[in-house]
Amino acid sequence: MFWDMKTKDHGLPRNPWKACVAPRPIGWITTINADGAVNLAPYSYFNACGENPPMVMFSGGPRPEGPAKDTVANCEEQGEFVCNMSTWALREEMNLSSLALPAGEDEAALAGLETEPSQLVKPPRIKASPIHIECVYHQTVVMPHNEREEGNRVVFGRVVGLHIDDGVLTDGFVDMAKVQPIARLGYMDYARVDTVFTLDRPKMESAAE
Ligand SMILES: Cc1cc2nc3c(=O)[nH]c(=O)nc-3n(C[C@H](O)[C@H](O)[C@H](O)COP(=O)(O)O)c2cc1C
Repeated sequence: MFWDMKTKDHGLPRNPWKACVAPRPIGWITTINADGAVNLAPYSYFNACGENPPMVMFSGGPRPEGPAKDTVANCEEQGEFVCNMSTWALREEMNLSSLALPAGEDEAALAGLETEPSQLVKPPRIKASPIHIECVYHQTVVMPHNEREEGNRVVFGRVVGLHIDDGVLTDGFVDMAKVQPIARLGYMDYARVDTVFTLDRPKMESAAE
């Protein structure tokens, strides 16, 4: 099949787009608002997007009506956020935290999740998550949206601190078999990372050899 994006008609039972860039990591993002109220939500248009310095990005679509999503607004207004690793063990809590509670209501508390203070930023970390990325807001790039003037807001952040639970380290390496991250596939599907394989980079053989 081929879907020409100029038409709305893909001819399949459901829009296949999100299944075609998969798996996508899930940034499970804590922020605070001006009153210090904690907010937690998952974003799978999320990734690391730089190494020197480490940077991350996530994209927030507009709400069906009303202002930007709380995570985007809090990042832009308060300037800080934390990306918590979402794992197989925390899959139900992650899902629950996607509920659109009114601004100022804490999805972490709703999901029964304990938080703990971060080191360098004000938003707290999700205690049960094994990896936390503390970030300072860098900039927003507004991307087009087919129906909504306000567009999709892609938030970039600079990583200022990284917590790794010692329990997921094996010989100093982050052991993904212990972390068991989950990733977003298309539709309502997810993947669990439980198999890891290693490939060394290819080397050019010298002509003389
Ligand atoms: C696994 C998962 C991934 C999601 N990814 C995104 C995303 O990338 N962008 C987005 O706008 N909404 C995404 N959502 C929906 C938001 O989590 C949802 O709109 C949430 O209510 C936003 O909360 P907030 O207003 O507190 O930020 C996702 C939901 C789930 C369950």
